[in-house]
Amino acid sequence: MKITVVGAGAVGASCAEYIAIKNFASEVVLLDIKEGYAEGKAMDLMQCASLNGFDTKITGSTNDYAKTSNSDICVITSGIPRKPGMTREELIGINAGIVKTVSTSLVKHSPNTVLIVVSNPMDTMTYLAHKVTGLPKHKIIGMGGALDSARFKYRLAEALEAPISDVDGMVIGGHSDVGMVPLISHATRNSIKVSEFISQERLEQVKEDTKVGGATLTKLLGTSAWYAPGAAVSGLVQAIACDQKKIFPCSVLLDGEYGLSDLCIGVPVVLGANGIEKIVEIELSDSEKAHLHTSAEGVKKTNSLLDV
Ligand code: LAC
Repeated sequence: MKITVVGAGAVGASCAEYIAIKNFASEVVLLDIKEGYAEGKAMDLMQCASLNGFDTKITGSTNDYAKTSNSDICVITSGIPRKPGMTREELIGINAGIVKTVSTSLVKHSPNTVLIVVSNPMDTMTYLAHKVTGLPKHKIIGMGGALDSARFKYRLAEALEAPISDVDGMVIGGHSDVGMVPLISHATRNSIKVSEFISQERLEQVKEDTKVGGATLTKLLGTSAWYAPGAAVSGLVQAIACDQKKIFPCSVLLDGEYGLSDLCIGVPVVLGANGIEKIVEIELSDSEKAHLHTSAEGVKKTNSLLDV
């Protein structure tokens, strides 16, 4: 199992680290355009191997895509991150060109790869990857929902004063401050609806805190987050690499599901060896349905800025 991670910045390096620590992949190639940077991060991470007990071999490369050849899974984290006060959508001007070059270069060397897109604005960058690579639609996955759901569970656990392992919940919709749809109606504490424990008002607060989860961290850190994004990517990579058939909300190309088409947006999918093995259609409340459709309009508006 060979995995490539493009972009050796904080998110890319965190992806490589979590993938290695979970010890399911034989090889991770980190690639960056900055001379020596990916090699340095790879060496630093490899020096954790004996300490953290993993056998995954991590190598670095300065923009040599030949080193990524025949990867089973490629992750794109390249591009600029948000600065405080910026929306993810504002990154499109710079990141679209980068994602176009990176995704076509990756697929040239790994024509059978599954591609995971993390660069922002993520739903639009995932749609762009479909337009420029020609990969089948089950092989292109945008990572946003897994991260947003982890942030949702963190906020739910906080509000419920419960351990996170007792809480389950999912966020669908666009990976943006306004587009995320935390599914309060489906959220549970050990199979009991969360509305049994806390007020509607508190749940609304959880929802709002979840939606600005990334922005809150960007304000605190001065740049966007990396630990939870890296951990979320590693979860998707492991589900595919180990054919786990796990359900995650991911940004995928829709063709009529949820009444939406010709865009990538977060919905629950089953992930296995083939990438997206199934799009799962679940019953939404009227307000969640309306929110998902408004979110889709926002994603389509951002997609219209693409030159494809
Ligand atoms: C975030 C970035 C990765 O939400 O979009 O932190």
